[in-house]
Amino acid sequence: MTDLLNVSGLSVFYGAKAQAVENVSFTVGPGQVTALLGANGAGKTSIMKAVAGLIPGRGRVHFDGQDISALPARDRVRRGVVYVPEGREIVGDMTVRENLTLGGYHVPGRERKRRTDMVLELFPEIADKADRSAWRLSGGEQQMLAIGRGLMAGPRLLLLDEPSLGLAPMLVRRVFDRLGAIRAETNLAIMLVEQNLAMTMRICDELHFLRGGAIVGHRSAADLQDSAARQEAIDAYLGAASAA
Ligand SMILES: Nc1ncnc2c1ncn2[C@@H]1O[C@H](COP(=O)(O)OP(=O)(O)OP(=O)(O)O)[C@@H](O)[C@H]1O
Ligand SMILES: [Mg+2]
Repeated sequence: MTDLLNVSGLSVFYGAKAQAVENVSFTVGPGQVTALLGANGAGKTSIMKAVAGLIPGRGRVHFDGQDISALPARDRVRRGVVYVPEGREIVGDMTVRENLTLGGYHVPGRERKRRTDMVLELFPEIADKADRSAWRLSGGEQQMLAIGRGLMAGPRLLLLDEPSLGLAPMLVRRVFDRLGAIRAETNLAIMLVEQNLAMTMRICDELHFLRGGAIVGHRSAADLQDSAARQEAIDAYLGAASAA
């Protein structure tokens, strides 16, 4: 098996009747960026959390050829499956540096120091503020910190839940450019959840379109290079709300 992540027949229920995800299957190759696009409530976060082991799901999740479906979240993190939640969820009362330490709590001290330096080098905006309380960061800087905290765990697959949420396009571009740089250097695979197709196109290789908890379409980034094909995908899968 050459896939890094292989999700097959994944379903997620909240309670007995509320099905949020229905029989979803997809793969992520080593070093690949795969995007899940869909409107609010389509099931994007539920899929990511089920892959990370944070909520239960039916179906199978294989990582690096091994069935991790029954593993708790912390064991998936140790194998390199790391979820960066939407809405950032950093700890405001702690400093930037302490937040990073939290992301690498299970990593030996010397390695943790190396990774902290790597993250601060990658995001100079937060390096200047490393010893300040995290609540003093701007929205974009908080997003950089959240991603940095995810990188501290040493991910092989980073699950990024709407990193562009609430950010100005220029900041989103900056964050995505940094992700592109990490990817070029480390062969990190990324599963990206987004609502905005244009921004997602900057970084991803494969796109899955999600509606009502099910995958309704798939395109490669190469398929969507011309604007007519992009518009066709938006009309078919996302609707007017996501065209911006
Ligand atoms: N904790 C929960 N309890 C009950 N239902 C939930 C819960 N979390 C999500 N849902 C429902 O599951 C469905 C999918 O939600 P999910 O958060 O996965 O969507 P999403 O695509 O991430 O949406 P958004 O773009 O708004 O973040 C929705 O109908 C939502 O109401
Ligand atoms: Mg969500």
